Amino acid sequence: MKKVLKWIGIVLGSLIGLILLAGIVMVMIGNSRLNKTYDFPPSNITIPTDAASIERGKHRVEALCQGCHGPDLGGINQWFNAGPIGTVDSTNLTSGEGGFASEATSDEDFVRAIRHGIGLDGKPIFMPAVESTSYLSDEDLGAIIAYVKSVPPVDHVTNGHNFTPLAKILFVLGQLPNMPAETVSHEIHVTAPEAGATMEYGEYMVNTNDCRACHGPDLNGGPFPDPTITKISPNLTPGGELSAWTEEEFITAIRTGVMPSGYKLDNEFMPWETFRNYTDDELKAIWLYLQSLPALPQWTK
Ligand code: HEC
Ligand code: HEC
Repeated sequence: MKKVLKWIGIVLGSLIGLILLAGIVMVMIGNSRLNKTYDFPPSNITIPTDAASIERGKHRVEALCQGCHGPDLGGINQWFNAGPIGTVDSTNLTSGEGGFASEATSDEDFVRAIRHGIGLDGKPIFMPAVESTSYLSDEDLGAIIAYVKSVPPVDHVTNGHNFTPLAKILFVLGQLPNMPAETVSHEIHVTAPEAGATMEYGEYMVNTNDCRACHGPDLNGGPFPDPTITKISPNLTPGGELSAWTEEEFITAIRTGVMPSGYKLDNEFMPWETFRNYTDDELKAIWLYLQSLPALPQWTK
């Protein structure tokens, strides 16, 4: 009897030891991925100074950046707070105290963050939007940087990302998304099709606006990017409800949130209040592109 108990003790003890060891190894792997430094040749993007380009930058920043960095771009504490996993503050982008524009030593620092997902320290940043902002053309990125540098300074020190050991384990197990720096294409120069109500420009707008982050890589729906939200995004290909819509109904849905069925889109899940400022041509382009997609069935779990 005593012998059996002793053996059970040894087996259990070794199991616990192994699990602890596996945990420690995973935290170490997580740390090495989070602390890896990246280096890219400079893009030498032209930062425009004319009023029209800065206005264009403002138009893009309103839709692409303010949702996470705040209306004054001063950053948001605990932009992401997932309890046992840790917290992420979105950075203050202005030239005020603690702001990125005051700490950056060159415009390349902006390019590295927005196009490559790399912070001032050369390490990956947890800014999921890089999956979209990495598609921004040199011209749009230049206009965005010009505008961000022109906004009034906000004094606000933010804390970046702080992940717990549990988060690092989940990250290594693939239960948390990869850092964007590990997945984006890292082009040094990016071009966009000429702006206008064309299918090609619509594809560019879809790629740069996070549509795929929620509606899936093929736009036929997908799980919500925030794992704590169970909402599933609908199918935007002609295989979904949009097949029965007109261009006008699509534009109305994005501008007012009201769908042809009378259902009001919930801005908490589908940020139409962000997209409603897009011009008619920009929305028409998105519509044309969505219409050109192959009809796919709704994505399900
Ligand atoms: C989905 C939310 C989200 C969107 C959209 C977003 N950001 Fe961020 N951004 C973040 C978060 C969160 C951080 C901090 C990441 C970290 O510390 O790991 C960040 C960090 C940054 C940094 C600083 C990098 C550093 O070294 O600290 C810059 C610059 C930046 N963002 C610019 C932009 C610009 C410009 C846009 C719009 C084109 C934008 N971001 C859109 C969430 C977002
Ligand atoms: C943060 C996630 C998110 C992003 C980003 C997003 N959507 Fe959505 N979208 C949703 C969700 C969730 C719904 C369903 C909302 C509801 O049921 O209230 C939705 C609904 C829609 C609908 C109504 C379709 C239907 O059949 O119900 C359209 C059209 C749409 N989105 C287009 C877009 C386009 C175009 C983009 C990019 C410019 C985009 N969305 C970006 C999450 C998102």
